[in-house]
Amino acid sequence: MKLFKISLFALLVFGLNCAKEEKIEIEKIIEKPEFTKAVAVVHPLGDSGVMGTVHFTAAENGVNVKAEISGLEPGKHGFHVHQYGDCTAPDGKSAGGHYNPADHEHSGPEEMMRHMGDMGNITADENGVATIDYVDNDIMMDMIIGRGVIVHAGEDDLTSQPSGAAGARLGCGVIGVQQ
Ligand code: CU
Ligand code: ZN
Repeated sequence: MKLFKISLFALLVFGLNCAKEEKIEIEKIIEKPEFTKAVAVVHPLGDSGVMGTVHFTAAENGVNVKAEISGLEPGKHGFHVHQYGDCTAPDGKSAGGHYNPADHEHSGPEEMMRHMGDMGNITADENGVATIDYVDNDIMMDMIIGRGVIVHAGEDDLTSQPSGAAGARLGCGVIGVQQ
């Protein structure tokens, strides 16, 4: 009986080791590349003339979002990551709705419960140029690659569902891996 217990124990240890090694092998195979920088070049939709760049850089507590967009009417403009990196439709609708992997309601970038893509607004000056530079605590770099950035005609009120009533889509860009 004692021998049986010892062999059982040995078998168990052996089995656990095998499982552990197998797990490491699997982790190696499915290991995802870690992106630290991404960029979206925003192109005008239709004849809006809205264009610019949005940089995403991994930061200590999230992702630094730094953008400069021109060709806007002075004032606030909704600014989001949308589900698809598809800017083919002239009205930008091909980019889908706000990127929302956690199935939350639309809100603002400061809120805990929000769409991951809810970056709020950018504010254009009298020359129609908007800049923004903040650290977003909800955006995950690996999840936004290949999705779309949309700049809207109107202000995102941060409360209306499902997208803040920000109006037409004026600019669209695809988020790509940056060196
Ligand atoms: Cu949007
Ligand atoms: Zn939203």
